[in-house]
Order: sequence, then C-alpha cells, then structure tokens
Amino acid sequence: MKKYKSFQDIMIFVLPFLLFYPKESEAQSVTSRSARERISINKDWKFMKYASAEEADDLIYDVRPEVTDARDDKPADAKPTEAVEVAADRQVLKPWILPTGNDFIKDSSQQYKRPAGNPGEDFSFVKSGFDDSDWKDVNLPHDWAIKGPFLEGWDAEVGGGMGRLPSPGVAWYRKKIFVPETDKDKSVFLDIEGAMSYAMVWINGKLAGGWPYGYSSWRLNLTPYLDFGQENQIAIRLDNPPNSSRWYPGGGIYRNVWLVKTNPVHVGHWGTFIKSKNVSENSAELDLEVAIANDSEEETVVKTTTKVFSLNQNAEKSKDPVAVFDEIEKKVPAKGSIKIEDSVTIENPELWGPPPTQTPNLYVAETTIKQNGQIVDTYTTQFGIRSVEFDPEKGVIVNGEPIFIKGVNQHHDLGALGAAFNKRAAERQLEELKEMGVNAIRMAHNPPAPELLDLTDKMGFLVVDEIFDSWERKKTPLDFHLIFPEWHEQDLRALVRRDRNNPSVIMWSIGNEVGEQYTGEEGAKIARGLRSIVNEEDPTRPITASFNYAKPDMPITEVMQVINLNYQGEGIRNAPAYDHLEGINTPPLYPDFHEKFPDKTIISSENAAAVSSRGTYVFPVTEGISAPVSDTTGGDPGNDYVSAYGLYTTPFGASPDKVFASIDKHPYVAGGFVWSGWDYLGEPTPYYLARSSYFGVIDLAGFKKDRFYLYQSRWRPDYPMAHILPHWNWTERMGEITPVHVYTSGDEAELFLNGESLGRKKKGKYEYRLRWDDVVYEPGELKVIAYKNGEKWAEDIVRTTGEPAALKISADREEIKANGKDLAFITVEVVDEDGLTVPTANNNIQFEVEGPAEIVATDNGDPTNMTPFPSHQRKAFNGKALVIVRPLKGKTGEIKVKANAVQLKNSEVIIKSNSDNEL
Ligand code: GAL
Repeated sequence: MKKYKSFQDIMIFVLPFLLFYPKESEAQSVTSRSARERISINKDWKFMKYASAEEADDLIYDVRPEVTDARDDKPADAKPTEAVEVAADRQVLKPWILPTGNDFIKDSSQQYKRPAGNPGEDFSFVKSGFDDSDWKDVNLPHDWAIKGPFLEGWDAEVGGGMGRLPSPGVAWYRKKIFVPETDKDKSVFLDIEGAMSYAMVWINGKLAGGWPYGYSSWRLNLTPYLDFGQENQIAIRLDNPPNSSRWYPGGGIYRNVWLVKTNPVHVGHWGTFIKSKNVSENSAELDLEVAIANDSEEETVVKTTTKVFSLNQNAEKSKDPVAVFDEIEKKVPAKGSIKIEDSVTIENPELWGPPPTQTPNLYVAETTIKQNGQIVDTYTTQFGIRSVEFDPEKGVIVNGEPIFIKGVNQHHDLGALGAAFNKRAAERQLEELKEMGVNAIRMAHNPPAPELLDLTDKMGFLVVDEIFDSWERKKTPLDFHLIFPEWHEQDLRALVRRDRNNPSVIMWSIGNEVGEQYTGEEGAKIARGLRSIVNEEDPTRPITASFNYAKPDMPITEVMQVINLNYQGEGIRNAPAYDHLEGINTPPLYPDFHEKFPDKTIISSENAAAVSSRGTYVFPVTEGISAPVSDTTGGDPGNDYVSAYGLYTTPFGASPDKVFASIDKHPYVAGGFVWSGWDYLGEPTPYYLARSSYFGVIDLAGFKKDRFYLYQSRWRPDYPMAHILPHWNWTERMGEITPVHVYTSGDEAELFLNGESLGRKKKGKYEYRLRWDDVVYEPGELKVIAYKNGEKWAEDIVRTTGEPAALKISADREEIKANGKDLAFITVEVVDEDGLTVPTANNNIQFEVEGPAEIVATDNGDPTNMTPFPSHQRKAFNGKALVIVRPLKGKTGEIKVKANAVQLKNSEVIIKSNSDNEL
C-alpha cells in the first residue's frame, strides 16, 4: 500500500489506531488483532556484488540471448528490431518466480503453479547460517552503481547510453528479520517498491518468488516460509543485464522496502479504488471498491465501513469524517477474496486541481473490516476529488477549466544520487520545475517511485503514468522485450492498481515509441490487448502511447484514446537546416491527426529534444530558429559541449521556439511535454563519451540553463521576468559579433550595451525570443529593459566580471530534519571581488562538513565530468558546483559546510538540523 509518504507518515496515521483504536476491540481484548503494521525494513542490509558476470552464481532467472551488437549510440528514434529466440539449455528459475504475479493475471487458467523443488537451497548465500559479516553494510534505497567510477572511452563496458556507471551485474542483499511468535496467525508480506532487476527472493533457504521488471512495485507473501518467534533470513538476488536500457537504470534495491503484517482477513494488496463522479463545487459522488482477502482456511463474514476525512496542507486529517460509506456485510470464502462496492455523495468537496488557478486538495479514506464484531483491519487510501475531461478542441479540462499542458518528461534518476529514491531530492526537482511554470510531468518511460506520485498529488502536477519503452520488439539487446510476453499483464495491472487513487495521474501510457509502430495489425493487436487490461483496471482514465512514427492511418494509432505525438506534431527533420539528414522525416502532422481523429485530444508527449551545456556558448550562432547540433553547428567537439543559445537539437528535434510556434498554430493541441525537464544520467547525445544527457532545461546538478527562462517566459506570462544570454566575459572576442538574446514574459525590450541603446525590439507573431544578432563585443554591462503593453515590466543586467576572487556558498534551506533522509543542496559559486559569479570559472573546490552531517555527493552539471559523485572535491563548471549534505539521524545541531579553493577566499554556510517529530 503506497498511500503514505513514508514510514513516519504511516505511523502518524496508524499509531493512534494501534494505541487507542475503538473501545469495542479493546473490550474484547483484541487490540492487537485490529492492527495492520507496515514496517520499514530499509535499514541494515548486507550487500555483495560479484566483480564480474563470469564469477556470478548460476541461479539465473532465464537464459539471455547473446549480445551481438552492443552499440548504444544509436539515434533515439532508430527503428526497434525483432527479438532473438533462445531456448534454455540449463535450469532456469523462472517457473518459481512467475507465480508471484498470479494476482495480476485475470484468467485463472493462465496463472502459474509453483513447480516442485526448491532451487538454490544448497547455495550458501540463501542459508541462515552463512557468514555475511564481510559483506558491505547498506541501507535502502540503495543504488550500487552511482558511486562509480565512471567507465570512460569508446569501448567501455558500460557506454554513454547507460551512463558509464557499473549498473549491470549480479548482486545479493541479505537481512535477518525477527517475526514474533504472536504474529503466527498473521499474514506477512514483503513489499518492494522497486528492485533493479530480475529480483528473486529466498526466505529461510526457500525460493519464495520475485519479479523481473525493475521499475515495478510488487509484493511477496512470506507467510508460508516464516519461522515465527525467530529470526528469518531474507536473501535477494538481483541480476541487472548489460545492454538493457537506453538510459541509466541504476542497480539494486533502489526504492523503499516494507514488511506488512495483517490479520488473515484484510484489505487486499492495493485493494481500494475511489472514483469521483459528477464532480462540482457543490457535490461529488464517490464510488468505492474494496477488495477483501481471506487468507484463512475458513469462510467468514465481514462488515466493512469506510469514512472519508479531508486532509490539510500538513497531511493532518479532519476531526470528523466528511462522508461515511454504509456498512456492508459480506461472506468471504476461505483462501479467497471478494470485492465490495458502494457510493456516497459528498457535499461541497474541496477539489484537487493544478495551481496556480486550482488547489491540490486531498482526502483520506479509512476502511475498517470487522469480523465477529472485532476490527481486524484498518486501511487508509489517500485520494483527491476532481474531474478530468479530454476535449479534442479545448484539451485537458480539469474541474471544468481547460488546463494547457506545460509539461516536461522526467527520467527516474536523481542526478548525483542516482536511482536510489529520496523524497527531498525528488521534491527539489519538482520545485524547480514549478518555478519554471511546469504543471505536468510525463514519467518517462517507466513506473515512478510511488512517493513521487505522492509529491505530484501534493504539489498539483498532472501526470502521465507510463510503463514501457519496449514491447515485443527491442531497442537494446537485453531490454524489457525479453520478459514482455510473460509479464506485461502483471506489470500493467500492478501499475494501475498501485496508482489509480493518485489524483495527479490523468492518463496511462502503455508505451513509448515502441517497435510495434512498424508492424501494422500485429502491433495494433498487442496495443489493443494492453488497452483492455488498463481499461478493465481503471475505466476512468484514457490510455495512450507515444508515437514518433505511427501515422493517422496506421492500425495502432486508432487504438489510442488520446493521441500522444513525439516530435511529429511540429514535423521531424522538417526545416531547411535539417534537410541533409537521414531518418524519419515528416511534415508537421497535427492537422492530419486532428482530421483523422476529430474526437480525440492530441498532446505533444515529447518535443524539443534540444541540447545544451549550461553556460557554454559557441559561435557563430545559427541564424534560423532551430538547427541540428553538429561539430560545426552549436557543438564544441574539443570539449564535448553544446552551445546554450537554445537553438540546437537532435536530428529529429526542434528548438523550443519552433515547438511553441507549432503548438500556437494548432490551438487544438492540448500542450506538451519537453524532452527533458532535468538532465539525466545516460543518453549523452551528441557526445557519446560524456556520462549524462544534454537535453535538460535544468542541468544534472539542478542549475538552470538559459532555456529555463525561455520556458518560464512562456509558461508564466504574468510573472515579470527578463533574461539575457550569453554571459559577457569574452576578452577573446573583442570587436567580434556576439549575438545577444533575451527571454522575457514582456512583449518588447530595449537592450543597452554600456548605456548605449542597441534598439528596442518587439516579439512578432510566433516569436518567443528577442535577438540582437549583430552586437559587437566590448566588455562592460549589458542591460535589458522589458515592456509589456507599453509599460516597463522587468529588467536584467549582465556584467563582465573580474577574475575569480572568492567562493560564495548558499543552501537551499536553512533548516533540515535530522532523520537521516533529508538533504541540503548547497550551491557554491566562484565570484569576483564584487561578488559577481564568474561565468567561466572552473576552479577546483574542496568541500568539508562539520557537525552532525555527511557529504553524500558533489556535482557541477557538466555532462563530461568524470569525477565520481561521492568525491569531496569538484571543479566548478561555468562558475558553479553543488554539494549534497545529509544530516545524521537523530543528531540535531548546527551543520557547517565549507568550501575552499586555492587562491580564493573560502566560504561557509550554517544549516540547522532539527529533530524530526516523525522519527
Ligand atoms: C525520444 C525518446 C526518448 C529520448 C529522446 C531524446 O525519441 O522517446 O526516450 O531518447 O528521444 O533522445
């Protein structure tokens, strides 16, 4: 159950129940029976990874095809290829793993039976007695690869595509858990929110099950394997294939892990679904479904009630319920489950909707199950009340208001922290996106951490929840296509059941640019199958898949309930600057899709794929509004940098300006999602030898590229802002043409160089930046005054700086929580004597921390920087570096973070680490 933001959060909800829940149950001395426990077991695991694939044990899930083409620098829009057939020539453990997904296979005749035997039982790592004392101590979430080192060069074992970090390999995690004798009548589950990948779990030497897809959340019933009143040995084997991803997947148990204990009769896994209907400000109807499981050998009768409470901004629930569902009595068969359904009307609901025009209000439903008059389970579901309509002309309508999608695509990594989920790091990503004006996120291209959706719920983003980057055809030799045939149904149903109560999720995406776009009716058939699975699980939200190739008349397109286009809307390789390129080539296709599907909403699910290195400018600047990057256009092959003028793209991309114009010319388009919001690890187009992407509007460290302000100028039109680029430190360009561009939410602006006007310019129709392309460089001050409707609106100044003289350090927050999970993100800038950031500085900075905290990672946002993330030393990149500091758990006090660099004045900042009530 993922409705809580953390273990602490659930304890806030559950503790009162554990301690004080209804007299009724106390009177019958069954207090303990009423409790469902959800216990974090993230702490104190033992970990061992084999040094190489050759050394690894033979306990494999399935044999894999041989990798004959390991190149991972293919263009992202290359045509996916067919699967390679392989037959297992040795024992594989797949038959013992498949039954774990049975609850998600609808047709019971297709469910898997666990074969006899217990593979692996003789292997030492699964045994309780095995001495793992020399294994590494780790806490979860854990990403085994993020510490590096980076694998450099053309022939590195892990290339640029997967981020040059050692994510592939086989590893084991072990932990002992004590399960008291008093739990012996309970059902005990292991809930894993994400393990990368091919997880197989042994309990006390017995192979209990597992789940191959690394992005899925899943549950394992431990009950039959446990020794009550004793320590129980959990051993988890992960096997992350090489050549399995187009970006950095991370490796390890990289999301939260829980032990869930319930009575035999309990709300099933992700067992509630609350749908809102006929929503208005005056009232809304809530339809509730509760799945009730009976793990016991006897049929029983249960009474179920659900009370709805409103939640305030601090997730505190209202004193009294705002709605109560009737008590329903029903029989639950032995070893079976039932579903109950009921409806209630709620008056004056506080609707969930995206800011700034709406508020993301939330509710919590508390479901209780009584058996023989005793409460045997209490289960909470967080949800929101809202209506979402998809209109072919007006776009996405939330609670009656058309909301233009100002979206970004986000991969799952958290930069220098890797794949290991951290709530504060994810929140920081969302906060910066919000500042840019973003109101929607596409989870590219896999299920996110459930806590990320709790954040999008709370902050009011609209979410496209996406599941697969490939189906039966492959993009990389060992990607998800290997397990698609046997697992797609389980993965898909699991995703929908997990996320269907999150109000932020407005649409399910069943795939991204899948190879089945190319296979006609065959591909359409698979798409139809996936659509029915999702529609069965959730009839309230449409499905889509993102197409960069499928055209309006292809059979797969028609299967979609919303049309999501990648790059095709504005046209692919369709501008003079792109004429010489080979690959998919299309004119702007919005009109064709709109004409063919007049009843369907069209969204630009991926656009731009513009590339840049923060603060780097390459001359000359292209004259047009969009150009494919190359070594001679926007690229700096000597340094593997890309110019930040915001005009350069992948061969199939389009600059933001071109995308904006295209969307404005086709007003029925509901908006779109930029590729990508933040930079991410892997896919370092166009410079394969780098480690991370150039696509982000924000760099990997969280520093804003100039493009940030271009999007902000469009997406926050009422926010007065102006932004000048480039920087003005060009001693080597004395007297040379150095174009100056300005992004502003105003409509016109006047630029001054050293006080002299270079002219006032107005944005024309379909123009989104103001450009002074013939400025002759002289040092000094560039100043822009922006106007809106003739009135002064905003200004910006850029000055030529002096030499680096000092460091300037600043923290994202002054106070953090001493819970061992919170983080401080601390920026260090290299400044001149006047305190101006020196935009070209690359001084080597040394970080130190004093007080109850530790340095977790450093970064500077440069995709080519190969210093391992945990290093306490890092060069500034174009004036900036980042250090991430984690407070020690339970140790409050002042944390002093210091930055030093040779010949520069040092700087330090103090952050307070406060006690955390949630501890
Ligand atoms: C798209 C793809 C994304 C990413 C992007 C930029 O074609 O869907 O995953 O690869 O290109 O290269």
